[in-house]
Amino acid sequence: MGKTSAWKGQKKALRCTQIRNENFKTGLISKVRGDIMAIPKNVLTALNKQINAEFLAAYKYLGMAAYFEDKNLPGMASWMHNQTKEELVHGMKFFDHIVDRGEKIVLDSIPKVVVSYPSALAVFEAAYKHEVAVTKMIHNLVETAKKANDHTVMPMLQWFLNEQIEEEKSTDEIVQKLKMVKSDSAALLMIDTELAKRKEA
Ligand code: FEO
Repeated sequence: MGKTSAWKGQKKALRCTQIRNENFKTGLISKVRGDIMAIPKNVLTALNKQINAEFLAAYKYLGMAAYFEDKNLPGMASWMHNQTKEELVHGMKFFDHIVDRGEKIVLDSIPKVVVSYPSALAVFEAAYKHEVAVTKMIHNLVETAKKANDHTVMPMLQWFLNEQIEEEKSTDEIVQKLKMVKSDSAALLMIDTELAKRKEA
């Protein structure tokens, strides 16, 4: 490295330290670290909130699995068990991101969830509605991170944006199939068999 580029590097590092200290003073970041990896306070709050949302989703899907177990629809129950595991993985992605950046985890309480529904269709409609709400949360998180210039969190959030396309698509496809089935129990059992084929998360 030539003298000029080495000096440019030092100047950049110095500017980063100044920005970090300014952000700490104004409360934009929660603590001073040796680099610019600290998570801005409002992003940290939103990330911790998202851990709770993902674990709540897991609990909701477990409630749906319980409903299908009770109705002797093992394929749909298995689909919901897989979805439960997937949501736990999502929650842990946020957890690990916060820990890896040296910040504090907050684990909020998880409320009671529904375990009884009027029909299989109602369950998947609730699942779809839930996924739409999660997509909105991820979009809000992206906005918060953008405003706080938290570039480090972006690749993970991009992963979640893509994941939500899949989450909405898969639940909506099942909703549409169940709408066609109506009260045809033979067709319902066929869907149940099909959903049993879903691979483990
Ligand atoms: Fe974690 Fe189903 O979104």
